[in-house]
Parts: sequence; structure tokens; C-alpha cells
Amino acid sequence: MKVISVVGARPQLIKLAPIAAAFASTDHEHQIVHTGQHYDADLSDVFFSGLGIPTPDVHLGIGSGSHGVQTGKALAALDPVFMAEKPDWVLVYGDTNSTLAGALAAVKLHLPVAHLEAGLRSFNRAMPEEHNRILTDHAADLLLAPTNEAMRHLAAEGLAARSTLVGDVMVDVCLRIRDSVLSGDHPAPVLPAGIQPDEPYLLATLHRAENTDSPERLAMLVDALADLPVPVALLAHPRLAAKAEEHGVRLSRGAIHVGRPLPYAGMVAAVLGSTGVVTDSGGLQKEAYLLSRPCTTLRPETEWIETLADGWNQLVPDPSAYPRSEWASTATRPAPTGAPGTPYGDGHAARRVVEKLTEK
Ligand code: UD1
Repeated sequence: MKVISVVGARPQLIKLAPIAAAFASTDHEHQIVHTGQHYDADLSDVFFSGLGIPTPDVHLGIGSGSHGVQTGKALAALDPVFMAEKPDWVLVYGDTNSTLAGALAAVKLHLPVAHLEAGLRSFNRAMPEEHNRILTDHAADLLLAPTNEAMRHLAAEGLAARSTLVGDVMVDVCLRIRDSVLSGDHPAPVLPAGIQPDEPYLLATLHRAENTDSPERLAMLVDALADLPVPVALLAHPRLAAKAEEHGVRLSRGAIHVGRPLPYAGMVAAVLGSTGVVTDSGGLQKEAYLLSRPCTTLRPETEWIETLADGWNQLVPDPSAYPRSEWASTATRPAPTGAPGTPYGDGHAARRVVEKLTEK
């Protein structure tokens, strides 16, 4: 069996790591096509080296652009690769523009498509990711769902016959790296200047279009972080840095200490070292949950509703609507007592993905 994984953005590289490792222990041929949606070393190269992912077989170098340009460039560049390789499966991951391009290019060439992390829904049609994931699910032949909730969404859209529950590959990678971090196999993460690793700090990220594109909303969220009573390590995605500059919003003020995005092991170590997380990232909400840190999510909804159980994750769409002390006590609340549940599976999802692809 020949499988081509199409990836392009940071979260896909993290999911690719356990899949590439699972294929490496089989006789199947697994090729990696990187669209080049993310090209900064911080967002791409360090994940290949840090997670032991083989170098991509093909790099399309599409880079940044508007949604249409980025998706269209990837579509056009994937055609000749798929036509030459004729894979048995094209495997696409998550909900980015690279995911949609991979799925669309493959179905138009009558190549079977499998969608990893199928069935997630925010029901927020303002999010570009929501369109990407719905269109990809409806185009794909095999829907590899991470949770029972995702399976329910797929069934509600008439896609049950193509859906299968495999668990979440993020558990595979997160728990493996957690164990290696706790065994001291990695250097200490480079936290932003001013953050003392031995003293309480909150770890924060902010990058979603809904939170960064509007100057007013971005300024409100940065004000809220700056106002917190504990130091905030804000790991700035290039999109945040670019939008803050464009809108004239100063990031480095009050409680905020700005740093660069971290490699995966550094991120896991930084979450473990923190007292809690404040974010709009889907992946980080789940990592906080898997690593038993409370998370405050700066969005009106989450695709990962399981993290909300027992208050491990709390949605705060608009911190400015809270009295100041309530926002502070929410973001700095202690971890709930008792361990989080295991709704994301047992850490063997990648092996199951390979099995499902082999069966079909
Ligand atoms: C993309 C995904 C988002 C995912 C995120 C993870 C889409 C629609 N969005 O958002 O779902 O959560 O990746 O990081 O696919 N930039 C750089 N260097 C890079 C990449 C981007 O400087 O290597 C800057 C550019 O200013 C670019 C902007 O970030 O225009 C946005 O990049 P883009 O890939 O379009 O979306 P992300 O915000 O990264």
C-alpha cells in the first residue's frame, strides 16, 4: 500500500509524527508532501527534527497568501504529484487550507482520501477552519474520528457509513513526549525573558483569525492578558506578531512577556511548568487537558468539548465582559481536583489509522 500524507501547517506536523512512526514499522510506503503553508523554522523545521519525522518527499513551497491563493496554489501543485505517484490513499489532517487542498485535489483525480481528525465541529461559520473541515469530511472516503462526539457529528451529516473511531493521535505524541520530558531527555524550554521557570506563570498563545484580524478585539484580548496578576508567557505565532504590528497593538506590557513559538517538547515542558494555559488553539486546549493543567479558552466555543468536563477548560469569549477580579480569578484558578478523563483514547490511535487504511 502506498499512502501520501499531505501536511502544511504546524498542528499537522505534530499529528504526522505518530503516523509516520506507525508506518515506519510496516512494509507500507508512506510519502510526505509538505505544502509549505508554514515555512518559518519555528513553525515547521523544528517539528521534523524534534519529533523525528522523515524529511518530506515533496515540498510545494506555496507559502502565505489569502485563502483562495493559498488553497489554489496547493491544489495546482498537488495534481502532478498525485498523478505521478498514484497512491492507494491520500491522508489529510485537521482543518487547514492545506487539508482542503489535499482532499479536493485527490477526489478530483479519483484517489481515495482519508481524513484524520474527522467530525470536529465548532458550528461557527465565521471560522475558516469550520469550512475546511466540513468540506473535507464530505469529500473524503474514510473519516477517521478522534472522539465519540466527532462520530455523532458525522452521523448527523449522513456520513456514518464512512466513519470510524480511531482515537486522537495527539494523545500518542503528547504522552510520549511528556514521558521523555519528565525523564530529562530534553533541554529546558526557552521561555520568554522575564519568566522565572520556578515561579508560577501562565502559558498563553493567540493566533486565530477571529481573535487577531480585528484591531479592537486583538487589543481587548492583549489588555486582558496584560492585566493578569501572574506573569504570562505569551508565545507569539507569526500571525499574532504580524497583526499586532499592523494594528499598532503593543504585546509586551503589564504581565505579558513575549517569546517565540516553541518546539513540541519545549511546549510540553512549558505547559508542565505552568500553573495554567490561556489560549485560542485547539491543540493547546487538549495538551493542557492531557497534562492536567487548567485551560482558559478565548473563544465562544470549542471543538474539544470533552475538555470542558469538571472545569478543566473554561470558555471565556470576552474577558472584558467580566469584572476585572473575576477574569483574574478565572484565568488563575487552580486545577480541578481529580484526574481528567480519557475521552481521546489510549495513545495507540496512529496504529489504528494504519490498520483501517490497510483494511479498506
Ligand atoms: C493556520 C491554520 C489554522 C491553524 C494554524 C496553526 C488555515 C486557514 N489556518 O493558521 O487553522 O490553527 O495554521 O498555526 O489554514 N506566517 C509566517 N510564517 C509562517 C506561516 C505564517 O510568518 O511560516 C504568518 C504570515 O503573516 C501569514 C500568517 O502568519 O500570512 C497566517 O498564516 P496562515 O498559514 O495563513 O494561517 P495561520 O494563522 O498560521
